[in-house]
Amino acid sequence: MAKMIDFDKIRAEFPILDQQVHGHPLVYLDSAATAQKPQCVIDAEAEFYRTINAGVHRGAHELAARATMAFEDGRAKVARLVGANAAEGEEELVVTAGATAGLNLLATAFGNASLGRGGQAAKRFALQPGDEIVVSRAEHHSVLLPFQELAYRTGATFKWLDLTEDGRVRTDNLDEVITERTKVVAVTHVGNTTGAITDIAPIIARAHAVGALFILDACQSVPHLKVDFHALDVDFAAFSAHKMYGPTGVGFLYGKRELLEALPPANFGGSMVELAYMDQEAQYMAPPARFEAGTQPVAQVVAAGVAAEWMMNIGLDAIEEHERGIAAELLKLGDIDGIRILGPRENVNRIGTVAFDVAGVHPHDVGQYIDAQGIAIRVGHHCAQPIHRHFGLYASNRASSGVYNTVEDAQALVEAAKGIRKFFGA
Ligand SMILES: Cc1ncc(COP(=O)(O)O)c(C=O)c1O
Repeated sequence: MAKMIDFDKIRAEFPILDQQVHGHPLVYLDSAATAQKPQCVIDAEAEFYRTINAGVHRGAHELAARATMAFEDGRAKVARLVGANAAEGEEELVVTAGATAGLNLLATAFGNASLGRGGQAAKRFALQPGDEIVVSRAEHHSVLLPFQELAYRTGATFKWLDLTEDGRVRTDNLDEVITERTKVVAVTHVGNTTGAITDIAPIIARAHAVGALFILDACQSVPHLKVDFHALDVDFAAFSAHKMYGPTGVGFLYGKRELLEALPPANFGGSMVELAYMDQEAQYMAPPARFEAGTQPVAQVVAAGVAAEWMMNIGLDAIEEHERGIAAELLKLGDIDGIRILGPRENVNRIGTVAFDVAGVHPHDVGQYIDAQGIAIRVGHHCAQPIHRHFGLYASNRASSGVYNTVEDAQALVEAAKGIRKFFGA
């Protein structure tokens, strides 16, 4: 049983929500794109710049030492949120510019290993013709494209898990799709279009049974569900801070420590090298520094840590339960004549992200009509074109919840949606 939380009080922590849009109180239902930030996160970033701003892991001065401590403390808090190690020498979270950057880092590092970089230890990441990379048709382009590109570069075969009619990743034919030749499996934890929670346990088990690495896109799960990478036994995972109430410009790539230690770097530059020469190969640092070339988003990591702690203080069970209530209301969109939900209609194994199609009305028109009533939703293909083709569409409308949403927010959208087809004469 989740503890009792006053979600009205939580909502009041988000200054941006206290405004009018087009003469209506703002209803923000676009958290799958980016979440709003509580005051403590906004303050943490400002406070860092006001009091301890300095580069990290360099410089012998006091501010640099404090900044380094704050940076590592931020990493440790985020690690606690997702069940990863953060003790010195055992870190399993690499700071990235976001999930997209983390997934590209991984695909590039695998590509480097395929070229023989990283020596014997990196052979486990190397791909060649005949090997297979498996994703799902539900992927965001930031999984689809880096791993498709990796297949083109290495000659590996690119395959995918298909979807059920309501857009869930199919797990009934895993042995067929994930074979002895499969080296990499990359799948989303929660579909960014459908809100469906993927049944990842059998996919991970099958990937490991054939010796493949399993990569989780945790972008849409970490903000809404209790996620523990150790318990899930994923090999790598990527997520963005801005979707979990933290700042933009920062994300994290999780990797099991022994895998990060064997993985060759993907980005090169300052702060990732022990020894650099003109006429010899450089010797790279241990993870996570090996993957963190250049000046890091220090203030953002500090603020991401504050966001993670803030979420843990509310409790992930309470967040999940609260948003299930919003999802139940949003799913009533499917009861409106001419509106089709793209994804599971039932409120189980899903989050409060609900995409829908309005028969005869283009999503851009829907978005504008809804926006005129002060309600923010996302329209378009949500960077997931293949799943839209699966539904026979190019684009859709998507409402997505955050902790600050109320049942009334969802009801406002449902009420507004009832007028769409009439307004456009559909
Ligand atoms: C499922 C999923 N994966 C990856 C991403 C990419 O995240 P970012 O744009 O923060 O790098 C997103 C963002 O929308 C997403 O929803």
